[in-house]
Amino acid sequence: MSIKTVSAFLEGKIEVLEKGVPNHTETVISDVFVFNDFAYKVYKSDSTFFNENFSDLSSKENRFDFTRADFEWNNKLSPEIYLELKGLSVNGVVPTIGDPTDNADELVIVMKKIDMSDQLIKKLHNKTITISDCENIGEQLAKKLSELPLSNSEQTVYSDFLSRHKDIQPWIKTVDKYIPEKLARKYQEFVKEYIEANKDEFNSPNEMGMCADIHADNAIYKNGEFYPIDSYAPKKDWLHGYKFINLYRVATDIYNFLGKEGFNAVIEAYQKSSSEEVPRRHDKFLAIYCQLINWPYQYMLAEKESWRLDIADRYGKAVEEIYSNDNF
Ligand SMILES: Nc1ncnc2c1ncn2[C@@H]1O[C@H](COP(=O)(O)OP(=O)(O)O)[C@@H](O)[C@H]1O
Ligand SMILES: [Mg+2]
Repeated sequence: MSIKTVSAFLEGKIEVLEKGVPNHTETVISDVFVFNDFAYKVYKSDSTFFNENFSDLSSKENRFDFTRADFEWNNKLSPEIYLELKGLSVNGVVPTIGDPTDNADELVIVMKKIDMSDQLIKKLHNKTITISDCENIGEQLAKKLSELPLSNSEQTVYSDFLSRHKDIQPWIKTVDKYIPEKLARKYQEFVKEYIEANKDEFNSPNEMGMCADIHADNAIYKNGEFYPIDSYAPKKDWLHGYKFINLYRVATDIYNFLGKEGFNAVIEAYQKSSSEEVPRRHDKFLAIYCQLINWPYQYMLAEKESWRLDIADRYGKAVEEIYSNDNF
């Protein structure tokens, strides 16, 4: 986003829902302007890291396609937060907000402002999540996910897991100063062997579903309500996968703080409000696979937020606990 547009937001010159001067949060892929009641998010075109590894947002066409899909997805899962899509035109002296058509220069996601202290990971960290909250989360997760479209992927669960297994390697490698390669390999081999050992069962497209990037960081939990945030998969390949990955990513993050009791509470409550039988025989495999995504992620975030180091270490202990437990 141009300096002119950032300054216009920061100087309160852009006509938005609310007057005032926002806080500016910049991530690898977006600029977010947070006012008192609303927040505005614009995807960047020039994040080499994201463009090369996830989705190429350098052309306007791709960026608009991605932003529209991202908004629709988040709006479906958390309509209370993801309000509408707007267009931003930057040609005049002051940029203006209008309709989100192809004539706009950028798309802007308009959100209700959220209090990041309600982020699920923070509530787990400060021990304010109870087992009954875990049940709420499982139940609401099942309801929300049932709103998503069916997957039309031609992959089978087997082939999809093999490519997910491949994707894990460079992901963990980015934090090899924290996770020794040998240790990472041990868990990755477990995952690979499990996929091969269950090839017959996994070799079916019927078990595929839409996959959301929902985990303890990408969720708000407030007044007993669970709201996924920013949960559109950054990479097209990850939009589809084994239909229970969503459930296990959340349940596994909960395991890291509330142990097996919390993990079971999420899954059992999900099961009660879902028509599909959750095959509990894959618990150990799915939990370890999910840890291999979220554990390194905590180390990545810890680069900027040092309080996360504790969390990352805790996740690491939990992976080993699950791995070495024959009865998990
Ligand atoms: N609706 C919102 N209210 C308040 N802060 C927000 C809101 N949306 C995003 N933010 C802030 O911006 C950060 C990045 O937002 P996010 O949607 O996760 O962007 P990205 O896709 O770049 O990861 C969040 O971690 C949060 O600090
Ligand atoms: Mg995010």
